[in-house]
Amino acid sequence: MIDFKLTEEQELVRKLAHDFAVNEMRPVARYYDETEEFPWPIVEKAHELGLLNSVIPEEYGGVGADRVTETLIAEELFYGCAGMGTSLMANNLALTPIVIAGTEEQKERFLTPFTEEPLMASFALTEPEAGSDAAGIRTRAVRDGDYYIINGTKQFITNGSVASLYTVFATLDPSLRHKGIIALVVPRDTPGISIGKKEHKMGQRASDTAQVVFEDVRVPVANRLGEEGEGFKIAMKTLDNSRAGIAACAVGIARAAYDDARKYALERKQFGQPIANFQAIQFMLADMAIKIETARLAVWYAAWRADQGLPHTKESSIAKAYATDMAMEVTTDAVQIFGGYGYTREFMVEKYMRDAKLMQIYEGTNQIQRLVIARHILKELM
Ligand code: CAA
Repeated sequence: MIDFKLTEEQELVRKLAHDFAVNEMRPVARYYDETEEFPWPIVEKAHELGLLNSVIPEEYGGVGADRVTETLIAEELFYGCAGMGTSLMANNLALTPIVIAGTEEQKERFLTPFTEEPLMASFALTEPEAGSDAAGIRTRAVRDGDYYIINGTKQFITNGSVASLYTVFATLDPSLRHKGIIALVVPRDTPGISIGKKEHKMGQRASDTAQVVFEDVRVPVANRLGEEGEGFKIAMKTLDNSRAGIAACAVGIARAAYDDARKYALERKQFGQPIANFQAIQFMLADMAIKIETARLAVWYAAWRADQGLPHTKESSIAKAYATDMAMEVTTDAVQIFGGYGYTREFMVEKYMRDAKLMQIYEGTNQIQRLVIARHILKELM
């Protein structure tokens, strides 16, 4: 049977995240967007409330949230502010490879500190010349006894300059493509790591995006997740989990824009009456509601399949592509409903629209999601 009723615990977590988004994130969202400062006070409060690192299992001191609960948190945090939300959710992305592929000892060593203090982590896969083609990474790992020596540059790394831990994907031999890739956990204080260019972005400006450079960085073999050659699959499995979360984040941004547009349509008067009286506006609002509700269903379905241990690669990509395209449409329409005012910084809708654009790009562009979906649906007939 299908049951959309959330558990009592899920309802509580959802409310906790919603209140945090409205009371703590929203009042400072414009400030961090304009200054591009890293929102440490928000990170600290989120950590105190258990809204950071929700993927860490209970046995390592975390809350061990299931995937559905994670999407509830993600939607609410992005309802608060997408930039700050990305900073917070990127920790889950970076720690998931350890959760899914780490040994007991590695989990204890790397995850536990994150439950004790508000630390940041980064998922370091993308490179200047390897974005969509993740198997084409060039960061080299050369074995030297009990160590790997890492050399290379990682690009567009969320939390890159503030992280205390990186999950790094490197290749033992680029000619082997995905079969040569390893996943390594690399603490920030390892000699040879430096921060390159910090990006100034169109939106999500409260999140930190930087180049991370590895020069002769010696990483113990004991920090490798899984076996040699398993790194690519660890990255793909991680993204299978995180993409439904990204879709939930997009629902959160769209909901924020929709709420503001609905309220504005009832207040703004033209031709002697609220613009909400006009069918042109009503239909736009109705379309927003249709899109938000259907996107959330796709998100919950993908997350539910993950929680059931069912294959969910295709469903996560469907949710990611659909919800993030939806957020772009809804936020653009929200600006339209605000008219000229929507294009100014007096209202938040312009920020939602800028923030939404990144959702179609990161964690796999929506073209890559369609490629993943196409490969699955065609294979189903073979
Ligand atoms: N789970 C498990 N294994 C998987 C898998 C999955 N989801 N997807 C692929 N694999 C396996 C395949 O079965 C294959 O294994 P075998 O050799 O044993 O058959 C192997 O991995 C290689 O698969 P492909 O041939 O499909 O690989 P490909 O080179 O064609 O690439 C791709 C596939 C889907 C395009 C992949 O490169 C991809 O996802 N690219 C996008 C990268 C991406 O999402 N980057 C996001 C960076 S993180 C980020 O953005 C975060 C942030 O800022 C907040």
